[in-house]
Parts: sequence; C-alpha cells; structure tokens
Amino acid sequence: MGSYIVWAVGALSALSAKLISTRGDPVANHLGPLLSPEAQIYFPGTEGFKNASVRWSSAIRPQFKAIVKVTTEEDVKNVVQFANEHNHDFLAFNGGHGTTYHLSKVKNGIGIQMAGMKGIKIVDDGKAALVQGGVQTGELGPYLWSNGKQTVTTGCDCAGFISPLLGGGHGWLQGRYGLVADQLISARMITANATAITVSREEHPDLFWGIRGAGHNFGIFTEMKIKIYDRSPEQDQWAALGLTFTHDKLEQVFGITNEWITSKNRPVELTHYGVVLNIPDIDPDHPVIILWIYYQGASIPDLYTSPLRALGPIAEDYSVTNLADVNTHLSAHYGGLACATGFSRILFPVSLDTWPLANLRSATEQLGNLSSDFASSMLMLESYATNAVGQFPSADSAFPDRGGQLLAGLLLTYPDDERLDAQGATIGREMRETLVKGTGKELVTYVNYAAGDESLESIYGYEAWRLEKLKGLKREWDPRERFSFYAPIPVV
Ligand SMILES: Cc1cc2nc3c(=O)[nH]c(=O)nc-3n(C[C@H](O)[C@H](O)[C@H](O)COP(=O)(O)OP(=O)(O)OC[C@H]3O[C@@H](n4cnc5c(N)ncnc54)[C@H](O)[C@@H]3O)c2cc1C
Ligand SMILES: *[C@@H]1O[C@H](CO)[C@@H](O)[C@H](O)[C@H]1NC(C)=O
Ligand SMILES: *[C@@H]1O[C@H](CO)[C@@H](O)[C@H](O)[C@H]1NC(C)=O
Ligand SMILES: *[C@@H]1O[C@H](CO)[C@@H](O)[C@H](O)[C@H]1NC(C)=O
Repeated sequence: MGSYIVWAVGALSALSAKLISTRGDPVANHLGPLLSPEAQIYFPGTEGFKNASVRWSSAIRPQFKAIVKVTTEEDVKNVVQFANEHNHDFLAFNGGHGTTYHLSKVKNGIGIQMAGMKGIKIVDDGKAALVQGGVQTGELGPYLWSNGKQTVTTGCDCAGFISPLLGGGHGWLQGRYGLVADQLISARMITANATAITVSREEHPDLFWGIRGAGHNFGIFTEMKIKIYDRSPEQDQWAALGLTFTHDKLEQVFGITNEWITSKNRPVELTHYGVVLNIPDIDPDHPVIILWIYYQGASIPDLYTSPLRALGPIAEDYSVTNLADVNTHLSAHYGGLACATGFSRILFPVSLDTWPLANLRSATEQLGNLSSDFASSMLMLESYATNAVGQFPSADSAFPDRGGQLLAGLLLTYPDDERLDAQGATIGREMRETLVKGTGKELVTYVNYAAGDESLESIYGYEAWRLEKLKGLKREWDPRERFSFYAPIPVV
C-alpha cells in the first residue's frame, strides 16, 4: 500500500563540499575544548558534515561553517555563547524536515545537530515522559508503545518530535488529547543569551504560552516533559482503507468526507487523508485521487466505507495496523518514500473548515498541467480528528488555529536545481490562492508547513493581541533576533 505514492523521483544528489583547513579555526580551538567528550564538530569537506547536512528538501540551504553534534544541555549553551561572541548565526535541527525559505538565510552559521540527545524516560508513575531534543517521532512512538503507553505524535517517523510541537503539532490521537503542544508540561531551554531555564505554567508562564505555537522563536530545547497515556487494548488497532479514484470522482469523494467533518457527532476515531497526484500509468491525462480512511478500532464502520465504494474506486487496499506502525502504513517510516531525500520540496499550506470542491477541482487541473519538472508534486489533504483540539481555550497558547478543521496544501516537488526555485515558488503561491479563494476564510498557514512568504497574521493569527504578545516576548527573550530562521517574529 502506498508504494506508488511518488513522494519523490530521481537519485540522491551528491553534495559537493570542498575541503578546508580547520587548523586555527576558533570553532575547533575555542569551542572544542568546552564541549562534552562525546560531542563532535564537523567541518565542511568531511563525511560527518556531509551526513549531517542532508535535509528532507534540497531547496533548503542553510550555510554552515561547522556543525556541532551536541550531547548535553551544557554543550548547547556553549555553542550559543560562542556563536554570540563570534557573531555567527546558529540553528538547531533534528529531523531536517523544515521547509521554510527562511532557513536558507543562515550564513556562515553553526549548525547544532540534536541527534546526540536521544534520551527518553517515563516518569511520574507513567503519566509523563522526559524527551530530549534529538528524539524523533519514529523513536518516541514505538518506545512508548512497547512500554504500554502512547501520546500524540505526527505523521512522519523521520521528523523530529520537538520541532512539530513548537508549532502546535497535528497528529494521531489529537482528537482524543489535543495537539502535540497540548501535551507539554515543561521544557528545558537555552535562551538567545545562552542561559538554561525551565519553562512551564509556573515558571515563565508567558513564555510557556509562546513556545506552544511559536516555539522556534525563543530557544533551543534540550528536554521536554510531556503527558503520556495508557494504551487500552480495545483502542490499540487502527483499521485503514486506501481507495484510488479517477479524477472525475473528486467532487463526490470530498462531498462525502465533508459530511463527516460537519457531522454533529464527528467520531474521534476517524481520520482521513487525501492525496491528488499524477500517476501516468493509471491516467496519463489527469491526476488521480487516493483517499485513506483510518479508524481507531478493529474495523471501519460501514457508514464510512460503503458510500465511497459505491463510487467505484479503481483500486482498494485494506489492512489493520496500530499506532506504532501507522506511519509505516503511510510510507512515512525510516526508509519509506516520505523519508527519502535528494529532491527540492516546499509546502504551501492552507487551513480550511470543509473541502471547497470547486477549488479542489481547479487545483487538480493545475496539478495536471504542471511541466515535467514539477509533475511529481501533489496535493495533500489532511483531516485528523479535531475533537479535543477545539476544547482547549484558544487564548491558552500561541497556536492560533484551534477552529481549523483541515490542512490542505501543495507539496511542491522538483529536481535539486536552484534554477527551478523561483518558478516553483510561483506555482506554490498560485495553488495556495486557488485553494483558499471564495472560502470566506482568511489565509491561515500552519507554521510547521508554511513556506515563509506568508504574512505574520496568516501564521500567528489575525487577533491583534497575539502578535503584540509575541513581539513583546521576542523583545524580552530574543531582542537581537538570533532565532530568525523559522517563521521569525520581528521585535517591532
Ligand atoms: C513528510 C512530512 C510529514 C509531516 N507530517 C506532519 C504532521 O503529521 N503533523 C505536523 O504537525 N507536522 C508535520 N510535518 C511538518 C513538521 O512538523 C515540520 O517540518 C517540523 O519542523 C519538522 O521537524 P524536524 O526536526 O524534522 O525538522 P528540522 O528542520 O530539523 O527542524 C525544524 C526547525 O525546528 C527548530 N528546531 C528543531 N529542533 C529544535 C530544538 N531541539 N530546539 C529548538 N528548536 C528546534 C529549528 O528552528 C529548525 O529549523 C511534516 C513534514 C514533512 C516533511
Ligand atoms: C555517514 O553516513 C553513512 C551512511 O549512513 C555511514 O555509513 C557513515 O558511517 C557516516 N559517517 C559519519 C562520519 O558519520
Ligand atoms: C490547463 O491546461 C489547459 C490546456 O492548456 C487549459 O485549457 C486550462 O485552462 C488549464 N487549467 C488550469 C487550471 O491551469
Ligand atoms: C538573559 O535574558 C534574560 C531575559 O531577558 C534575562 O533575564 C537575563 O538576565 C539574561 N542573562 C544574561 C546572562 O544576560
């Protein structure tokens, strides 16, 4: 299942890096001795540097003079202190999935690779877990699962766990427990001035508000304490049905799923995921629609399958999986197509409340018209259950879109070639406009997917108090705008 989902095509491009001498380099001479024995410094031209530089999207090009693999909170603190003293940009990264254009503004920077901090510990009688800054989603989920626990995790194993949380974090179980960010109890972070602090409802409560939705702007997180939940055997299974339709069924398919979304008793068990993509072997002239229906339970109630089956899908695939394996099912596991690298990819998201059928039709047509360089792009139409997400007060965190029901967007995909970037950006902007126009909803672009050319309001919310509060926090915690490479909030 999912094997013909063309996340990307082509071969891994060789990274070119020229060898430079590190003798006399202050990073080696001054920073090196301050680091823990297990920390590593990678310089351009080395295999370690090359490995650490691989990102999910080749169109994102932060430029580092060195990458430090940190293993302790003290290491992070020392790198930030060093970068401040020597006036270097710095950037923490984990899964390398971030796709905002701002990341390419890092110049002569110091990369902080979190992969040396992978600790996970279940604490508080099994009600919480301590998760270090380098843990990935595909490491946390299965670890908790094998210990009889679970929490809200996102739909891609090879992405970081903490980074999605910083922007809210949509994922499995959010219908029951809220966003990933709603699970945060407290966080250890290194501030822009290289101070280690704890942030929680009790300590620095305003900052605690800000890091749940705008977290990329305020610090480097070395460890987070999050809520976890007992697994219950009757909820362990996830039944999954994938249906492939020709393009002419588009309106009927999403007309049916619109009824689910708007139903008064929207089931917390139900998630659906649509993709629209070009598969010339199936239809050389039009994109194809694939709809996955996930239902937390041993089987999917007939109500959610019969009407779709009646439309005559051209292919169908049914299986039952569980939370630890659900990303594998999406081909978003380690080694899966969604984790492959070597391509340029940018997301252009739009938050929606119901599927706008006419817009989906136009977007599908646009997708079918793309030139061969961009033809591997796809529309991603995600509908996680939202029940609990909407139950948290909107003002309680910097996440601005509690009411949003759906994540639509273009996953622009093209060969690793800088000359195509500008054309790609134009396609993305057009598609975004196509998806949102006439919906009566302002443009809302989920920060974790945002391309970076959107307005601050579309990312952080249209209520004036939100941006004022965020700017105030920025003035207090990052007055020199050191954290300005991921949906940056300006000081003024
Ligand atoms: C295939 C795919 C599937 C996705 N699925 C989902 C999904 O289901 N739900 C969802 O909500 N999002 C999803 N996303 C978006 C995802 O949340 C973001 O791309 C996220 O930033 C990826 O984190 P990363 O660690 O892999 O990326 P990175 O590029 O390593 O990190 C992104 C940014 O986070 C910050 N950061 C990383 N680590 C730290 C740290 N320890 N402390 C402070 N800042 C840090 C930095 O600013 C960094 O630039 C998906 C993305 C992709 C590409
Ligand atoms: C780089 O990655 C390759 C392939 O995963 C691995 O075999 C090699 O050991 C890595 N090298 C370093 C220095 O990390
Ligand atoms: C797609 O291309 C066809 C043929 O050139 C054209 O008629 C149509 O308007 C295009 N549609 C979109 C949405 O760009
Ligand atoms: C770091 O910034 C915080 C917040 O502005 C401030 O309270 C603290 O005194 C600063 N510490 C240092 C060492 O400058």
